Amino acid sequence: MTSLPTRTRAVVLHSYNLDGWRVEDYDLPPLKPDEVLLRVTAAPLNPSDVAFLQGMYGIRKPLPTIPGFEGGGQVIAVGEKLNAADWVGRRAACLATGAIGTYTEYLVTHSSVVLPVADDISDDAASMMLVNPLTAWALIDMAAAAGVKAVIQTAAASALGKMLRRFGESRGIAVINIVRRAAQMESLTAEGAAHVLDSSSETFDGDLRGMASGLGARMAFDAVGGSLTDRILRAMPNGSRIIVYGGLEGSPVSVGVDQFIFRDKHVQGFWLSSWMPQNPVKVAEAWAAVQAQSAAFRSDVRAHFSLDRFDDALRLYTAQMSGGKVLITP
Ligand SMILES: NC(=O)c1ccc[n+]([C@@H]2O[C@H](COP(=O)([O-])OP(=O)(O)OC[C@H]3O[C@@H](n4cnc5c(N)ncnc54)[C@H](OP(=O)(O)O)[C@@H]3O)[C@@H](O)[C@H]2O)c1
Repeated sequence: MTSLPTRTRAVVLHSYNLDGWRVEDYDLPPLKPDEVLLRVTAAPLNPSDVAFLQGMYGIRKPLPTIPGFEGGGQVIAVGEKLNAADWVGRRAACLATGAIGTYTEYLVTHSSVVLPVADDISDDAASMMLVNPLTAWALIDMAAAAGVKAVIQTAAASALGKMLRRFGESRGIAVINIVRRAAQMESLTAEGAAHVLDSSSETFDGDLRGMASGLGARMAFDAVGGSLTDRILRAMPNGSRIIVYGGLEGSPVSVGVDQFIFRDKHVQGFWLSSWMPQNPVKVAEAWAAVQAQSAAFRSDVRAHFSLDRFDDALRLYTAQMSGGKVLITP
């Protein structure tokens, strides 16, 4: 048997800021009984990764650490509790659970978040099959459970926003898509989105009020925060609920107290990292749907960068996030 790698080339974070990393070698820990060693083939940059680099995400890891929350790769070894014949050689989508994130040649992670994929799924697609698809599924599941006929979403030109629209419509739920630029409005309309509004337009608040009332949108999914959350909640019918699942604006949500007291409106959060362990049965249902409806849950790819060009990848992605994912291909 060939010996396993003990070190990996990786993006290593030494301080929490966008420049606080170097590409260097990092020691791999020995495999625990229920862990898997993968050779990473691709890993996307997501908003959560950018927030993590800046120390502004929901978790901070002791430094130095390797960033990157999700990716795809090939299993090359497993811990002693796992049957090697079931795992080794399989291509999989995966999440990072320990100090080693996915911007690395080799990843050690827990087997519960390594999900083998079918042969017809590309390496690129496999690397983006968990974070956004499972979140889009979970949000639409909340809407279906609440029995709403229509939902509103912000950052609708994001990879997740496009999935949420396609999957929501496949479940018979109309989606009102809010974007921040005219070009995003055009691209979503060209993709077939029926209800698209630009929050930078002068008529936005009135247009949203009319659309929300016409379609009966009593639930909204907000990835932006800041003052947009209040504008959306105000435009929705009494008794509506907004679920904040991202903070792209980087500023606190402010909502007038009148909305809570006199309009019976509600604001709550959503985090996939909490939802997954609390909903194992739904995770399995969501994963089956993501594989079966791969067209609905697909992400476009804009560019690939090697580890050594992480700087270029980060610059391209943070300058403009729409238009396809930027992938790290070690
Ligand atoms: N809570 C959870 O568990 C969870 C899980 C997955 C994803 N998320 C969140 O879901 C959101 C979308 O993720 P993604 O990977 O799909 O994103 P993405 O494909 O990288 O796209 C991000 C989108 O947000 C837009 N945007 C950026 N800053 C904005 C702002 N201040 N106001 C309005 N729009 C803004 C970008 O527009 P430009 O092109 O103009 O930059 C782009 O269309 C993120 O907030 C992410 O953190 C949350």
